[in-house]
Amino acid sequence: MGDSTQFVIAGNWKMNGMLEESLSFVDNLTENPAPNAVEMAIMPPYTLLHSLSKPLAEKGVVLGAQSMYFEKSGAFTGSISPLMLRDAGCHYVILGHSERRDIMHEGNALLRKKLDAAWENGLEPMFCIGEHLEEREAGTTNEVLKNQLSVLAGTDVSLPLTVAYEPVWAIGTGKTASPEQVSETHAFVHQELARLGRKCRVLYGGSVNAGNAESLMACEGVDGALVGGASLKADSFMEIVAAAARVAA
Ligand code: PGA
Repeated sequence: MGDSTQFVIAGNWKMNGMLEESLSFVDNLTENPAPNAVEMAIMPPYTLLHSLSKPLAEKGVVLGAQSMYFEKSGAFTGSISPLMLRDAGCHYVILGHSERRDIMHEGNALLRKKLDAAWENGLEPMFCIGEHLEEREAGTTNEVLKNQLSVLAGTDVSLPLTVAYEPVWAIGTGKTASPEQVSETHAFVHQELARLGRKCRVLYGGSVNAGNAESLMACEGVDGALVGGASLKADSFMEIVAAAARVAA
């Protein structure tokens, strides 16, 4: 674990989730075994934010969104604004997820606008970074991460931020980074953040599940997990929360 006092286990549902099954997901969540040591968060699709806001809050789960546009309102058909996310009860917004970077072509300039807009509207960005397999194999991982983190240069370091290191080759593939790769890369990310004047939580993401969560959370510099597939079922999500609680104990 890094220096922070609380792990975050965040579930990124991506483009999954219908109303009824999502309400049963919340019903099936058991009690957080260590609320002081582990924060639970769920990022459902936009369509579920309002409906899940209250039921999740009642279970002590923090709400987040998976993306947003940077304008407050206006003629931006199909977009969701930071104000709307606040209105729906969100605390977090994921920005820079590799699926947004790769499929929707979101780059540094746009992400900086989104980060600023999140902060201006009282949201905490969960800012994702990570290298592709070719980049890891070419030995350029640190360079890639440094470039992605450079978006934070000159931002107000007192504003809340959580970073998620997600190697792209580990997302949805069942392959996780080894504990050595995780510790080494998290050390680099914390160091780079410190160079930018920041001290914040750095989560690991990429095929985290009930079976590997404990060893990943125990890696030096890891402050929680951003979980995709394994966050879609309440029992596997709670098992990951329990694993983090054991590491924190
Ligand atoms: P995964 O997704 O856990 O399904 O690999 C993680 C993520 O993309 O945040």
